[in-house]
Amino acid sequence: MLKKCCILAMDQGTTSSRAMVFGLDGSVIAVAQQEFRQIYPHDGWVEHDPADIWKTSLATAQQAFQEAEGKGFSVEAIGITNQRETTLVWDKKTGEPVYNAIVWQDRRTAAECRRLKSDAGAEESVQQKSGLLLDPYFSASKITWILDNVEGARVRADNGELAFGTVDSFLIWHLTGGTQHVTDATNASRTNLFNITTQCWDQELLSLFKVPASMVPEVLDCAAQYGVTAEGILNREIPIMGVAGDQQAAAFGQCCFDKGTIKSTYGTGCFAILNTGSEPLFSKNRLLTTTAFRLGGKPTYALEGSIFIAGAAVQWLRDGLKIVQSAAETEDLAASLKSNNGVYMVPAFTGLGAPYWDPEARASLFGMTRATGKAEIVRATLESICFQTADLLEAMAADGTHPADLRVDGGMVGNDWLVQFLADVLQLPVSRPVIMETTALGAAMLAGLSAGLYGSLSEVAKIWQQDRLFKPAASKAKELTRWRHAVEATRAFAR
Ligand code: G3P
Repeated sequence: MLKKCCILAMDQGTTSSRAMVFGLDGSVIAVAQQEFRQIYPHDGWVEHDPADIWKTSLATAQQAFQEAEGKGFSVEAIGITNQRETTLVWDKKTGEPVYNAIVWQDRRTAAECRRLKSDAGAEESVQQKSGLLLDPYFSASKITWILDNVEGARVRADNGELAFGTVDSFLIWHLTGGTQHVTDATNASRTNLFNITTQCWDQELLSLFKVPASMVPEVLDCAAQYGVTAEGILNREIPIMGVAGDQQAAAFGQCCFDKGTIKSTYGTGCFAILNTGSEPLFSKNRLLTTTAFRLGGKPTYALEGSIFIAGAAVQWLRDGLKIVQSAAETEDLAASLKSNNGVYMVPAFTGLGAPYWDPEARASLFGMTRATGKAEIVRATLESICFQTADLLEAMAADGTHPADLRVDGGMVGNDWLVQFLADVLQLPVSRPVIMETTALGAAMLAGLSAGLYGSLSEVAKIWQQDRLFKPAASKAKELTRWRHAVEATRAFAR
């Protein structure tokens, strides 16, 4: 019997590792997922144990692979997608990490970034070259911290003994039995060390952050040959053929292939990516310029708005405040109120991302009275996620880009109330796809392209189907203005 081809996507996220197997039509054949430990050693610090990242990724990949093959499918290629910016440094010979993974949310290098910013022209040059800002979010200052704080690391790095990688690179290194030290152009574009115009590591940026060139991986296209799985990983060699950072993978999975198309993903954080075509558009409004995808050596660029907290705020309602038992409950609670009753939340639990870039800001709730109950707090939390998206789209408009609609995905967009409120705040149609797992799907599409399972982007685009279009109704302009006052007050409080 001829087996049907399928693709395994490994999606290593901030709070869990997932593996999904997709048929070529985008159908989901198998899914496996494992959460892992978040480590908070100090206020504002966030780490992951590299062993947890690797073990959960491997276990979920093996489980999904076996399930798919058990159903009579044949896995032809692997695509990898990952939490971006999270920084790992390991020994090139032994593979032993020298420190925990420093997670993208970690703010420990805020002072160092401020110091670098005070050097005349440093931030301008960083933005010109990397498309990013000088912020602890990105990998470079995290590498510097590891080299300066882990005993002996600086000397070992100078001797060429240490490798740096984002999570994709770390996983590929392990999947290929330590033979490949590679990454893709989208992940490289999140480090502060990669020149997005020349698509090469930049010597000046490497020197600014004191990172030896011997540490950085080789950068490949998103659809390329990354190596094959080593013995013992799966039951045979499977080629790794596609890689992209999770937000870029989601944009690919949403088929944002053309200039002007935009998606916004609501996971731990929220990230809006707008395709700006073959030339980088450098933001004048504190958005990021980044690589959307690189195929056949040609980069397609994006403007990105990054919000650090979206689903994580709902997680806080559930696990921290314990006022809901499940995220799903928030929909009915928000809908139970006619208005927000004047309650606003600024979910700056790990500082504020775009367009404020304020690592010191901390979350706040405004406007509570004795009548305020959990419904108001839940609703304020959901609304804040939509208001933050409005800030991003407004900054994009100020940069001269005016998308006609927005595609959304991620765990939170199953919440109809949230998506309708989003459409109202943005005054833009918001489209939700049938397959909401666009991150893993995007990685599978990239792997399928380089494996020759799809002939072209237009063939890939046929996979995307709309589940529901949310049309904008009542304007929320007044509420948006109130929310911005809340943001100002929050920032002032942190000063
Ligand atoms: O830039 C951070 C982003 O890649 C994290 O994504 O889905 O793990 O929240 P997620």
